[in-house]
Amino acid sequence: MPAFKDALPNTPASILPLVLQAMSRTPDSRLRELMAALTRHLHAFVIETQVTEPEFERAVKFIIDMGKATNEKTNEVILASDLLGLSTLIAVLNNPADPSNTHALAEAASHAALLGPFWRANAPFCEAGENIVRSPTPGMPLEVCGVVYDKNKQPVPDATVDVWHASPVGLYENQDEHQVDMNLRGRFKTDAQGAYFFKTVRPSGYPVPTDGPCGELLRAQLRHPNRPAHLHFMVSTPGHKVMVTQVFDDGDNNLTSDPVFGVLAPLVSHFEEIEVDGHTQARLTHDFYLIEGEMSFPHPPIP
Ligand code: BEZ
Ligand code: FE
Repeated sequence: MPAFKDALPNTPASILPLVLQAMSRTPDSRLRELMAALTRHLHAFVIETQVTEPEFERAVKFIIDMGKATNEKTNEVILASDLLGLSTLIAVLNNPADPSNTHALAEAASHAALLGPFWRANAPFCEAGENIVRSPTPGMPLEVCGVVYDKNKQPVPDATVDVWHASPVGLYENQDEHQVDMNLRGRFKTDAQGAYFFKTVRPSGYPVPTDGPCGELLRAQLRHPNRPAHLHFMVSTPGHKVMVTQVFDDGDNNLTSDPVFGVLAPLVSHFEEIEVDGHTQARLTHDFYLIEGEMSFPHPPIP
């Protein structure tokens, strides 16, 4: 037998070392590390679960279907990573509560959440106290305020608080022909005391999109698609990481079964209901804690 034949793979486990060897000269060290680890885990997964040929074909079809279903209205690839908990994992891993913080956060938990597909860059700048309801949007009025703090619990003046959320019927403005452009979106500057304040309507929960391959997967897993009611925030100021987060309504029934696992304990807040002139309004107070780092903004998932 020619000598080279000894170097060829002949068992499932003998393929991996050859692949790692082939990739080992990758000049970019981070790409080399990432691809080696990914390949190791993929091979281990296939061997552990004994993936069959029809199952592999089905997985390839799922990936192709995600690409086909992704368009200017929806991003099925991000949705898949959301439903696997990967988006939340990336957010939590990369935004730990700063261990050098001198103020007492209730726990060392992250205060970050996944971006979700509906953030749009360039929401209008608003004056403090402005209402971000821009076209008739029936619902309970909601006032939101809080303070942006740095790692030393010093208030951060002139930080940008970008907010966006779904309407009381559970639709974002760019999913709903009854809302005008940029309805329920706005950017606010914190004042000299680090405070922000705006008015809006109380959002409701809503289902993640279920008309593509990810919806099919949810149904196959007997999982419901309903996110608990929340507001999205992106808080930024130079010298700090852009804090992408969400604040959840503590009265929602789906807090412990969010299909995208975005609900962290520090992000659940009380929406206090008050009577004003015989009408019920809600009030929410939520503070943000920034961590030091580079101010780098994400790309909008749906341009
Ligand atoms: C959202 O919160 O906007 C969202 C997150 C994941 C999937 C769908 C929507
Ligand atoms: Fe959302």
